[in-house]
Formats: sequence, structure tokens, C-alpha cells
Amino acid sequence: MLLEVKDLVAGYEGSRVLNGVSLNVDTGEAVAVLGRNGVGKTTLMESIMGLVRPTSGQVLINGTDLARRAPNQLARAGVGIVPQGRRVFAPLTVMENLEIAVRKRGEWTVDKVVELMPRLGERRTNLGSQLSGGEQQMLAIGRALVGNPKLLILDEPSDGLAPAVVAQVGEVLTTLAETGLAVLIVEQDLRLAFDVADRVMVMQKGEIVHQSTTQEFRSDGERAHALLGVG
Ligand SMILES: Nc1ncnc2c1ncn2[C@@H]1O[C@H](COP(=O)(O)OP(=O)(O)OP(=O)(O)O)[C@@H](O)[C@H]1O
Ligand SMILES: [Mg+2]
Repeated sequence: MLLEVKDLVAGYEGSRVLNGVSLNVDTGEAVAVLGRNGVGKTTLMESIMGLVRPTSGQVLINGTDLARRAPNQLARAGVGIVPQGRRVFAPLTVMENLEIAVRKRGEWTVDKVVELMPRLGERRTNLGSQLSGGEQQMLAIGRALVGNPKLLILDEPSDGLAPAVVAQVGEVLTTLAETGLAVLIVEQDLRLAFDVADRVMVMQKGEIVHQSTTQEFRSDGERAHALLGVG
């Protein structure tokens, strides 16, 4: 198993957010974690990455527990993250943003990222601050890719994007998943999650309360409504 999260408990100064979350992502799988505002999705991603320190539980990458390790150790083990809000470097150009993120030689070079997302090539000399939300999202994905991850974690990539742009991001992620890259995506946008993921989980108040195939969840609108208040 590429990623195994076991009974992860985490939070902030006296407030517990994750109440024992367990999930798996296998090589080549695309998994979505769905959940409304504030249920702990970002806390889960940041606890996996070592940006938030879990109080207990395990984060196994290929069988090795890396919980409570520094973020760069997770990156070295093959986990790439596209953070909520994208966080591209505003004063750097598109190319500079990509080049400083190169850490490990491998399949994904800057050229290959531009081939996958040609818009980044068209905007190569523009600054991060001059990009649209969709372009920033593509750049954030490109930055994670040049680290040559085995698992790509994305935290609400649809955030603040127009539906047509969300669809473009979905195409990029679907292409990546088809190449065999494992993807763990946290989303509120059901369409994007459904486009990309083979399996879905739903989080409520720091717990996984539902797991199924995407197909099963899609065909059960009532369930989706009860769990997420949508659909
Ligand atoms: N740095 C922090 N310090 C203290 N509390 C925090 C911090 N970050 C998040 N929280 C709290 O933890 C809970 C879960 O937040 P989190 O950001 O993980 O949710 P989320 O599911 O990602 O929400 P959203 O969909 O809005 O991104 C919320 O109650 C939030 O207020
Ligand atoms: Mg969040």
C-alpha cells in the first residue's frame, strides 16, 4: 500500500479536529475525500504532510511510518502536495516557480509539465501575481509534479474557480491518474471529485463516515445529500 493513514488524531491548541482518521491509497488509485467547510480536510492533509503534528496515529508510506516527520521527508518519500489556496510565489515568473521546485530528477521535467499544461508555456514570463486562479492552480500542480511524486495530494483545487476552469483542472488530474500517479484529492466540488476519483470518502467532524466507489456514491443522490447537504 502506497499510503496508509491509521487512526490519525490531530488538532490545534486544545481543540481536537481529527478524531481517528484511517484511509488507504494504493499505487495508481485516485481517491477523493469529500466534506463540508471546517470538517478537518485541510488538517488531515497537513497532518499527513507533517505540517500539523498529529497527537497519535500513523502515516505509512510504503510501509514506513512517517507521522510527525518534517514535510521535506514526506516529499523525499514521494508525496507531493498542492495546497489549498495554491500558494504560488507571486513575485516569481511561471518558469521560476517551476524551476525552484525541481528537487528530484525523474519523469516530470519543467518541459514535460509545460507539455501537459500548455497555458503555463504561454505565460512563462508572467509573474505568479499576474495569473488567473486557474493558471495558478495549474502552476501549483506543475510545481508538485517536478518533485516527481508517487502520490499527489490536492487540497480543494476547485476553490474559487469558474466551472469551465474546474473542468480543465479535472482533465489534467484525470490524465495524471491515467498515467498511474496516485492521487488523493480533498474537495467540496462533487463534479471534480467524481471526474477524478475511483473511490470517495466523506468526512464529518474529523471522522470518515462513508466510503464507497465513486460510481456507487454518484448513483445515490439521497446519501450524498444527507452527508454533504448537496446533490
Ligand atoms: N491553524 C489553526 N489553528 C486553530 N484552529 C484551526 C487552524 N486551522 C484550522 N482550524 C480549525 O480546525 C477545524 C478544521 O479546519 P480545516 O481547515 O481542517 O477544515 P476544512 O475541512 O479544510 O475546511 P474548508 O473546507 O473550509 O477548507 C475548523 O474548526 C478550523 O477552525
Ligand atoms: Mg480546507
